[in-house]
Amino acid sequence: MKVTVFGSGYVGLVTGACLAEVGNEVVCVDIDEGKIARLNQGEVPIYEPGLDSIIERNMAAKRLHFTTDVDFAVRHGLFQFIAVGTPPDEDGSADLQYVLAVARSIGERMEEYRIVVNKSTVPVGTADKVRQAINTVLNDRQKPCEFDVVSNPEFLKEGAAIEDFMKPDRIVVGADNPRTTELLRALYAPFNRNHDRLVCMDIRSAELTKYAANAMLATKISFMNELANLAECLGADIEQVRVGIGSDPRIGYHFIYPGCGYGGSCFPKDVKALERTARDVGYQAQLLQAVEDVNDRQKLRLFEKVNDYFKGDLKGKTLALWGLAFKPNTDDMREASSRVIIEALWEAGAKVQAFDPVAAHEASRLFGNRSDLALSDSPEATLKGADGLIIVTEWNVFRSPDFDVIKAELSSPVIFDGRNLYDPARMKALGFDYFGIGRGASSA
Ligand code: UDX
Repeated sequence: MKVTVFGSGYVGLVTGACLAEVGNEVVCVDIDEGKIARLNQGEVPIYEPGLDSIIERNMAAKRLHFTTDVDFAVRHGLFQFIAVGTPPDEDGSADLQYVLAVARSIGERMEEYRIVVNKSTVPVGTADKVRQAINTVLNDRQKPCEFDVVSNPEFLKEGAAIEDFMKPDRIVVGADNPRTTELLRALYAPFNRNHDRLVCMDIRSAELTKYAANAMLATKISFMNELANLAECLGADIEQVRVGIGSDPRIGYHFIYPGCGYGGSCFPKDVKALERTARDVGYQAQLLQAVEDVNDRQKLRLFEKVNDYFKGDLKGKTLALWGLAFKPNTDDMREASSRVIIEALWEAGAKVQAFDPVAAHEASRLFGNRSDLALSDSPEATLKGADGLIIVTEWNVFRSPDFDVIKAELSSPVIFDGRNLYDPARMKALGFDYFGIGRGASSA
């Protein structure tokens, strides 16, 4: 089948590459000429395990093309995917200007039936706006032309995006007529194996489903972080509580890991946007507001522990910091807890020596060259001359370090662990002051 994907960002690239991988002819279009030129030279602008080889293979097979030529792109695909960004506005609501600009571009060039598929995370009601934008342009052109708009939200996780796309647990299709649903079913047939994973619904429900999923997951995390903070006050260990509640299948083990807050491009943005959407229709979403507030506070928890440990005197101190990305297996630092912690340390007059397996280049892009930030090329190198170690992201390489080296290098053997990687009793036996999240008296 012929597919066009607007937007060669995270979702667009993964969608385009995976649809090509199963034999479709895919054209990815983006207005960023530099990005398209780099992609055409085989340079993939994002770090995502497995994506570069799929792109390379499908470009070689001439099933995957990158272009800035919008005329060609609209002519090409029966399916016109919209996968451009919806960054938060100043007030937190999703900015639809890029989505609607694509809709107009399609309307301006469309000569025959097209299915416009919204893949970007967009507020409820956006499909109507997309339809309206296309209709307005078609009317201006006096070009009657049939088209359908579908909501097909993406649930992929960074770091596991290819796996998530190739083996989805559900494919949500929001459509207002059976013809489009069937065309989407045919497009997704290669991914819809073993049992039917297509969940068909009306368009508004599909749009809300995406926000509901992300808000529910963010809520689980903020709930656990709230209880972790309480566990510290009560002398209980949240890790034991986690196993205790996760064993109830109604609760489940997933997404109940306490830590130093959730980050990334989705949860913070989507919780905020849903809360704004609610406000716009006159409903005050108190729980969503609380989820956001708890998360903002949680991002500062590790800093507060460091600050308390050093009795509020961080001037001239140096902290080693492991993990900059908002989670492992990505170089993405959007809304990462590391940023909040680093900024707070700087504010307090401390220096940071940081290591991340892949995100160092992103940190230099964000922070530039500064005398109070050293980006090291190994976890050990961050420890030299440092007064303590802070762990922010649970990369595997941090799970079993050489504690003798850590102890020997740090001026005081103290670890502030934002991801609860180690056993407090063992750390105590090894002679460390160890502070996790919610680990009873040892965290306080
Ligand atoms: C998320 C959703 O999982 C995905 O379905 C959606 O399409 C996009 O948003 P992603 O942002 O890639 O994906 O990351 P995810 O793995 O969900 O983690 C988000 C954040 O939550 C990370 O900062 C992670 O550290 C944090 N987290 C996750 C916790 O603090 N505790 C947990 O138990 C799980």
